[in-house]
Amino acid sequence: MKVTVVGAGAVGATCADNIARAALAEELVLLDIKEGLAEGKAQDMMQTAALLGFDTRITGSTNDYAKTAGSDVVVITSGLPRKPGMTREELIGTNAGIVKGVAENILKYSPNAILIIISNPMDTMTYLALTATGLPKNRIIGMGGALDSARFKYQLSQKLGASPADLNAVVVGGHGDTTMIPLIRLATWNSAPVTKFLNEEQQKQIVADTMVGGATLTKLIGTSAWYAPGAAGAALVESIVRDQKKLFTCCVSLNGEYGQKDICLGVPVTIGRNGWEKIVDFGLNAEEQALFNKSAEAVRSMNDVLKTL
Ligand code: LAC
Repeated sequence: MKVTVVGAGAVGATCADNIARAALAEELVLLDIKEGLAEGKAQDMMQTAALLGFDTRITGSTNDYAKTAGSDVVVITSGLPRKPGMTREELIGTNAGIVKGVAENILKYSPNAILIIISNPMDTMTYLALTATGLPKNRIIGMGGALDSARFKYQLSQKLGASPADLNAVVVGGHGDTTMIPLIRLATWNSAPVTKFLNEEQQKQIVADTMVGGATLTKLIGTSAWYAPGAAGAALVESIVRDQKKLFTCCVSLNGEYGQKDICLGVPVTIGRNGWEKIVDFGLNAEEQALFNKSAEAVRSMNDVLKTL
């Protein structure tokens, strides 16, 4: 397997590091537009191989897409990250041009690649990648929900005193502070509903803290987070290259599923060798469906901005 990570910033480098440590690919290319950055980080990571004992060959490239040729999976992290006080949505103008150019360059050399989109605003960048490239919809996967669901499990684990690994919980809808929908009604601690152990107020707090999970970190760190976003990207790569068919919430093209079409939005999907394979209907109740529709409306108005660029 050959995997490329575009963007050697904090998210891209962390994603590459996770991919190498888990030996998910024989060959891993890290590419960045900034002279020397990807080569330097690739060398630094390769110097951990002897210590960590992985065999993945990592190479770096300054914008030479020929080096990415024949990639099976490509993770796109390019674009500006948000700064404190910024929404993900404010990045749309700058990042749209970057993501479109990257996707086109990648496909010149890896026409069969599956693309994982991390760049923000993620829902709109996923929709852009789909419409700009015309790729089959199963090969375009937006990462947001996988990350937001992990953040939801973190919040639940803190309140319950539970191991995050024992929790099942998903966030659907958009990857925005006001568009994501943590489905607390369906969350379980092993198989027991978490709502059994948390009062209304605690549930509300967990949902609210999950929704601003990224913004909270951006405020603390001064820039957008990278450990969990990078790990979420690598988890999707793993499910693809090992054909695990794991169920993640990912941003995918909807055609009537969850009551929406002509939009990419976070829903539970299985991820395997063909990209996203099956959308699973969790059966939203009326209140959750109303939130999902509202989220779709907000994402759709961001997608409309693409037409004006
Ligand atoms: C975050 C960015 C990656 O949520 O969207 O941290």
